[in-house]
Formats: sequence, structure tokens, C-alpha cells
Amino acid sequence: MSDQRKLFITSALPYANGALHLGHMLEHTQSDIWARVNRALGRQVRYLCAEDTHGAPIMLRAEKEGVTPEEFVATTRKEHWEILQGFNISYDHYHTTHSPENEAMVAKIYNKLKDNGHIDTKVVEQLFDPEKQMFLADRFVKGECPKCGTPDQYGDNCENCAATYNATDVINPRSVISGATPIIKESLHYFVNLKNFEGMLKDWMEKGALQDQVINKLKEWFEMGLQSWDISRDAPYFGFKIPGTDDKYFYVWLDAPVGYLGCLQYVCDQNGEDINDWIAPDANTEMVHFVGKDILYFHSLFWPAMLHGSELKVPDSVFVHGFVTVNGKKMSKTRGTFINASTYLKHFKPDYLRYYYAAKLSDKIVDLDLNLEDFVTKVNSDLVGKIVNIASRCAGFIHKKFDGKLSDELHNPELYQQFIDNSDEIAQLFIQRQYSKAIKLIMTLADNANQYISDMAPWQGIKDEDKQLEVHQVCSTGINLFRVLISWLSPVVPETASKAAAFLNTDLSDWHAINKPLLNHAVNKFKPLITRIEMKTVEAMMEDSKEDLKSIEESPVITGPLADDPISDEISFDDFAKIDLRIAKIVDAQHVKGADKLLQLTLDLGGLTKNVFAGIKSAYQPEDLIGKNTVMVANLAPRKMRFGLSEGMVLAAGPGGKDLYILEPNQGAEPGMRVK
Ligand code: 2FM
Ligand code: ZN
Repeated sequence: MSDQRKLFITSALPYANGALHLGHMLEHTQSDIWARVNRALGRQVRYLCAEDTHGAPIMLRAEKEGVTPEEFVATTRKEHWEILQGFNISYDHYHTTHSPENEAMVAKIYNKLKDNGHIDTKVVEQLFDPEKQMFLADRFVKGECPKCGTPDQYGDNCENCAATYNATDVINPRSVISGATPIIKESLHYFVNLKNFEGMLKDWMEKGALQDQVINKLKEWFEMGLQSWDISRDAPYFGFKIPGTDDKYFYVWLDAPVGYLGCLQYVCDQNGEDINDWIAPDANTEMVHFVGKDILYFHSLFWPAMLHGSELKVPDSVFVHGFVTVNGKKMSKTRGTFINASTYLKHFKPDYLRYYYAAKLSDKIVDLDLNLEDFVTKVNSDLVGKIVNIASRCAGFIHKKFDGKLSDELHNPELYQQFIDNSDEIAQLFIQRQYSKAIKLIMTLADNANQYISDMAPWQGIKDEDKQLEVHQVCSTGINLFRVLISWLSPVVPETASKAAAFLNTDLSDWHAINKPLLNHAVNKFKPLITRIEMKTVEAMMEDSKEDLKSIEESPVITGPLADDPISDEISFDDFAKIDLRIAKIVDAQHVKGADKLLQLTLDLGGLTKNVFAGIKSAYQPEDLIGKNTVMVANLAPRKMRFGLSEGMVLAAGPGGKDLYILEPNQGAEPGMRVK
């Protein structure tokens, strides 16, 4: 029994300028399991992805490597696709955004947006590298923070004081590319007027199957007001030219999501299908995107707006996941916990990680911790110790004593039926992306199967001439229970499942097939389906990751485009609790020679004195501050600044300029007192 649903499922397109790592693999695994489950339920699935190829970082990287950008992205596409296949990610096609299909689709969408009055132009001022003769994106500018003066900060935000600003405000800016001092230059830019879509986006938010956290984030963005989106970049740029212009290109973030449709177009062309049957507003299909939390803005505002504005179907779901941490910490190159997907594959089969991720994934936007010891323990105890164990305990008898054939009847048909009665719930849990709950239920049933075999102890019965039939039926029941379990797990561990299918001599890809047990059915000789893993292999993989790091350091990688408004990494309550906020009395405040924004504060914390540079000069005269209380982060590690050592940070709030308020607690607050 199959239902008629047609699904178009995607993962975020990997950027061509960088290796795939285990963080990427979380998303590809999550979407692959979902696509496979939908296929197992008989639905028509187009599961697609592509290489995200455009932008200045790619252009510069290719130049550095002495190849054309086209050659560069063709090579990375091949490498990425090999790795994805290595993890058994079952994309129906892996395309590229640098394709004729995508170029045509981008032009079609842009022209529609233009005809429908959604494109504006405006002259903007931007930093320009006079040596390299190119406009500089924020990440290609470095200089002193205009707020606190910290040197060597990128053109969009300061790592020291977390201020965000325009690259044109950076003090003593320099081009990261040539080292030249940039000049300010004007250029005509093209914008999508996002405001036009506010009503439509709000409707979509209400109707769509979005996660609560996504809805909250959207509400925040609506409250802040939707900004027009700059979709153009000046030549030189690697991308698609904007129709009707000579030297303007589409910003990579415009043609990247269109790449989902470019890939679909390619597949439709191959199959002689009309793409409109998939993407017309009234198409009876479901468009589902899996993305990480850092690119939510693009997928929940720009993308539905672009689709709606060009008279196409809007996404039915955007499923957002968190990041991968390793041993409780953000993956880090310096800690040696940054694991490339290719390094993993040198040491382990894909199913181990796929299983571990599935066992921990939920439908929530939370980070998933890859705890390496837990990884070893869990895959050994669940996959080897529970699942495969069922088959290996029964297969030998079937083969040696019963001619490799399962019995005509089961010894315990009720137990088999109890398993089948869980089918709908397991399917539902997977479809709702509650993978960890599905796995838990499957493992509970695996425990029941193992208990049943232990209770029946076929290794005893086999010695008794009268019990041969019973042993045959018990082992056949065990093998059938194994078939049910491994069918449910096949979207998670496809390699193990395909070995199991060879042993069982049957196809496991249709979940409806398990309603009937295999009776009087010949199975093949049992070979170990999956072996135990060891911590020493993990250690070898980590050593290799350190080697990878060395080669990365020798050839620095320019990172991909940043989200305009990324959601910061969540911190735990424990992280928050580490911040020691104290009342501090400002006993002295001085101007800082050569700093436009900073004041030097001497703070008394009830006996302990700290020196802090604070970017509050625009709002306060030093003399007005002396004698006042403020709140400071007392346990911030000291930072060396151009003007001296800053030993903490005072808290201030406000839009900036004159309106910046240091917190001034009630009288009665004593210096040094902890703020609760
Ligand atoms: O964040 C990234 O790595 C982007 N390459 C994802 C693009 S997803 C889609 F918009 F194409
Ligand atoms: Zn700063």
C-alpha cells in the first residue's frame, strides 16, 4: 500500500570552498534518513542537493590555486559528491549551482520579481580595493574597531566588544586581499524589497509546519522590521550576470537556494517531466528543506519571498537543526576536534556515525554532542550487541540443521504481531523527525527479541531429538524479528541493512512487506554484518584530524558567505552561570589618547581595583562617571589592547551614540557585590 504523496527534499548546498566535516554530515544524514523513510512508505521522492559554487571567496581561491573558478568548483563538487556517497547519502542527483539550468531559473525568478515590482535600485558606498580593482565584502576588510579601537577586526563586527558596524566606519582599514588601503566608492546595487512580502511571510509562518523556535525568530525579525535585501555584486565576481546589466552579478545567496530548483530542473529534463508539476503554486507536492540554524534567515524570509514573488510554490517545511559539538565543545581546529568527513571515512564505516546521530536526533534546534566514548559504547551495544546478535544467535542453527530454510510456521506469531503493531508509531516518529524516540523503541523491541531467544534457549533444545521442530520455529521467529528490526533501521544503517538483505535473501526497502513473516523461505549463509569498534580507532582518527589541520594552516581557507543575521550559538545555563557580574564603583575615568570612542575606567570592586577600557565616550564625559556604580563582567580574561590591558567589561545598553547607558544600580549596592 503506497500513498500518493510527492516530496521534493533538499539539504543545504555545501559551499565549494571548504571540506565537508562531521557537522555537515549531521544534516545530510538527517535528511537522508527522512528521504529513505518516505521512500520505504511508498512515497514519490526527489531527494536533491548540489554544490554551492559562486561568490568572491571562490573566485579568489581559484586564482590563488592557479585554476579557473569553473575548474575549481568542478573539482570540489566531485570530491564532495564522493564523500556524500561514501556516507551513503542517497541523493537522486547532486548538481551544481554553476549550471545552465540554474542560470535560466535565476533569470526567470529575477525577471518575475522585477515585473511584479519587487526590485529596487540604490547607490551604495562601499570600500574598494584600488590595487585589486574590486569592491570588498566585509570579510575582506580588516582594521580597528570603530567602537573600542581593537586592531585587526573584520569589516562587520568586533571580536572584542561585539559591536557591529559598516566596513566604511572601520579605522585604518586595509584590504585582506592586497593589503592596500581601500577607498570609498559608489556603486548601483539591486535590492529585493522584502517589505512587500511581510503579509505573505506572516501567513506562511502561521500555516507552515515550522518549529516553535523558528516561529519565534521570525516574529523577532518582523518586529525589527524587514530590510531590503541587496542581491547584486559588482564585477569581478564569480556568478551569474544580472540580466540587462554589463557588470553586475547576482549575490551568491540569491542563486544558491535557486540551485534547489536548478537541480530539480535537471532531473525533470532527464526524466521528461514538467517541472511545473512540482513547483507551480497549486502543485500537489511537498517542498521540504533541511538546513542548519545559521542559515535560517535565508530560508525563512528571502527564499519564500522570492518564490512567492515569482509566482512559484513556497516551501512546505523548513526543518532546522543545531550544530555538532565534539565531547561537549564546539568543533575546534585548535583543540583538534575538527573532524573532516573524509578523515572519518578512512577509519570507520558510515553506519556507525549515521546510527549515533539518529540515536540522538530530535525535531528540536539543539546542538548534538558527538561524545566519542559514548559513540563507541552505543554502536557496540546497540548495533552489534542487540540487533545483529539476534540474527547471529539463530542463523547458525537454520543453516546447519535446517538446510538454510525458515520453518513453515512461527513458534511465536503473537510476538511477531506485537512487533508489527509498532510499525505505524515507528514510521510516525521518523516522519516527525523524532529519530531518537524511534531508535529507542526499536531497541526496546530488540531487547524483547533477545529475551525471547534467551528464554527459549535453542542451544539447549537442539540437543533433544524431540525438540527439533520447536528449535526450527524458534530460530525462524528470531530471524523474522531481526528482519522487522533491520527493515526499520534500514534508512539509518543502509550498508548493514543491505548485507542483512543479502543474508535474508529478500528486499528490505518496503516497510509494508514486513506485515507478513518470511515462512518456508531460504536464507543465505550468515556473515558478520557489522563489527565492534574500538576507542583506539577513534584515537587514530583524531590524530589524523590534527594532520589535516596542519595542511589547512599551510593553505588558509577563506570561509563562505556568512548569514546576514546568524543566530549565535546557544549557551547553556552553566555557561551563563560562569559570568561573574559584580557591582563596580567608577573611581576614576580618563580620556584615552588616540582613541575616539574609549574611556579608561578605574573600577573598585570592594577592595579589588580593575582597569577597563569601555567604548562609551560618545555618551559620557569622564567627570560625570566618577563616583557612579556600574555592573561589570568581573571574570573576563584580560585582553591586551593598543592602549593597555583591559581587565573586564562594563555593561551598557542602548542604540549607541549619545544613547548608551551604563547600568546604575540602586543605592545600597556595594562595590564587589555579586549581581544576581
Ligand atoms: O551555508 C552554506 O554552506 C551555504 N552554502 C548553504 C546554501 S543552502 C542553499 F541556499 F543553497
Ligand atoms: Zn570593538
